[in-house]
Amino acid sequence: MKGLLLAGGYGTRLRPLTFTGNKHMIPVANRPILFYGLDHLRSAGIREVGLVLGPVHEGIQEAVGEGRAFGLDVTYVHQGTPKGLAHAVACAREFLGNEPFVMYLGDNLLQEGVGGFVRAYETSRPDAVIGATPVADPRQYGVVELAGDRIVSIEEKPRNPKSDLALVGVYLFTPSIFEVIDGLTPSARNELEITEAIWGLVQRQRPVTVQRVSGWWKDTGLPADLLEANERVLASLRPDRLVNQGEVRPGAVLRGPVGIGPGSVVDSGAEIEGPAVLGENVRVGAGTRIGPGTAIGSGSVLEGCAVRRSILLERVHVEGPVRLRDSILGRDVSVRCARATERDTELIVGDSARIAL
Ligand code: DAU
Repeated sequence: MKGLLLAGGYGTRLRPLTFTGNKHMIPVANRPILFYGLDHLRSAGIREVGLVLGPVHEGIQEAVGEGRAFGLDVTYVHQGTPKGLAHAVACAREFLGNEPFVMYLGDNLLQEGVGGFVRAYETSRPDAVIGATPVADPRQYGVVELAGDRIVSIEEKPRNPKSDLALVGVYLFTPSIFEVIDGLTPSARNELEITEAIWGLVQRQRPVTVQRVSGWWKDTGLPADLLEANERVLASLRPDRLVNQGEVRPGAVLRGPVGIGPGSVVDSGAEIEGPAVLGENVRVGAGTRIGPGTAIGSGSVLEGCAVRRSILLERVHVEGPVRLRDSILGRDVSVRCARATERDTELIVGDSARIAL
């Protein structure tokens, strides 16, 4: 069994935020989203992973290398122009060879990982296993309609969904998927859709198992989803990510699970309520309050502010009595606030923004 992790595509929905580099390197609980996909593939017993790269891929190869830190053997597959998920699979054909493979969309996070997909495959050896879960608004996903266990229809982002079952971004395929992909033509959004390839298997009467996903699942394409993923991952961090490797000065207050990276300093008079993580060389000044669901990137400095349920990337500077909530601040962002505000402030800003309040 091989793994295919997708990090191509432009990531249009986060693009207005102009984060430098690839959106899969945006951190959730201070780790790039992409790393969770690698962990999940490894935990399911997979060793060989193809990592699909698109035109914007700075930072990924540098961070993942040959995959040794993840216990994996990673091969890079260059997709060039991202022409859809099925196109990404076609580009990986040589790497995938004749083996079944788990395909993981790099901007997705699945609490329960991919072990259930592998087990479902091993139980009945179908041509594909797809994951589905009910969602409030299925129109932004692939949607599967079932009659019992039988697939009645599968559509990509339908205007009038026939069910509330969204396809999650994990799939298991056998090489039979290539037969269908070879005959696909671009969809209305000009992509080779994996949804259509799965429908092609169903039409050919090939067995496709639908795996119900019961744990939480997030497609992190939208800022609100990224914040929710961050909150959920922080709440489930293993104890080894929640150690204090920095300096907590006398008079600082820490409550709940808090991870503090090397070189970081929490000053006297600062308060942190976990779950929260601080990267390396972060400075939390006196009078600063960090609330639950917050991840602060390395090199950041917080002075006299309050931040909760937020993601701060590297080298963010926040100074003054602002109360940030549900915010994402890109790398090297500076927020300066002169006067105390009555209400919480929500800021979603890309790299290098300068904000004076
Ligand atoms: O998140 C689940 C949804 O993912 C499914 O419900 C949909 O059926 C499926 O089509 C997909 O929809 P999205 O519109 O969210 O896909 P997106 O374009 O965001 O790409 C998903 C991931 O795949 C993302 O990590 C980027 C990568 N990708 C995307 C394309 C289009 C590639 O590597 N190559 C590509 O050509």
